[in-house]
Amino acid sequence: MSLNVVAHPLIRHKLGLLRASVTSTSKFRTLTREITNLLTYEAFRDLQMEAVTVQGWAGPVQAEKIAGKKVAVVPILRAGMGMLQGVLDLIPSARVNVVGLYRNEETLEPVQYYQKFSADIADRLAVILDPMLATGNSLAATIALLKRDGCRDIRVICMVAAPEGVRRIEREHPEVEMFAASLDERLNDDGYILPGLGDAGDRLFGTQ
Ligand code: URA
Repeated sequence: MSLNVVAHPLIRHKLGLLRASVTSTSKFRTLTREITNLLTYEAFRDLQMEAVTVQGWAGPVQAEKIAGKKVAVVPILRAGMGMLQGVLDLIPSARVNVVGLYRNEETLEPVQYYQKFSADIADRLAVILDPMLATGNSLAATIALLKRDGCRDIRVICMVAAPEGVRRIEREHPEVEMFAASLDERLNDDGYILPGLGDAGDRLFGTQ
């Protein structure tokens, strides 16, 4: 499985609050950011480090700094924006590259209306933000756009994943590692995750 379910007690507790339909828009947004902080910590666990010497208070000290590829964070509009600050809290130097996709509610197929990638995206580690990995259609389309522009190091952070979407990404993009707070049961007939969170964009932005 290229899906990592990060079952830390803090994530499980916050996810329970997120699932509650009484949770307000502002609380939903805060919880999404906090869970994204925790998932980011896990998703970047394998970053390469290099040794450096810094001038400490009592003289030179051996320390470390992150080496290797720079990061591009790729929120899928619009719900992915709710997770953006959660990554930037920990990786403030990341470039923000967005993809605008909406889901045709009849076919459930993604329709692209916007894309803006850094000129050096091929040399970056891209982390896609998609709160609800449902059918996997939008995510697969975003991965394909990144690959088309030469990006080869791609990972995904989502809040909740459905088995259907996970299987699709594993089949089409087996090298892409995914991190989620939960693997839920299934999709309903409208392509919503059960038990899920409902419409994550509406809950984040108060548009329900
Ligand atoms: N998008 C959502 O916001 N929720 C789902 O359950 C599936 C897709």
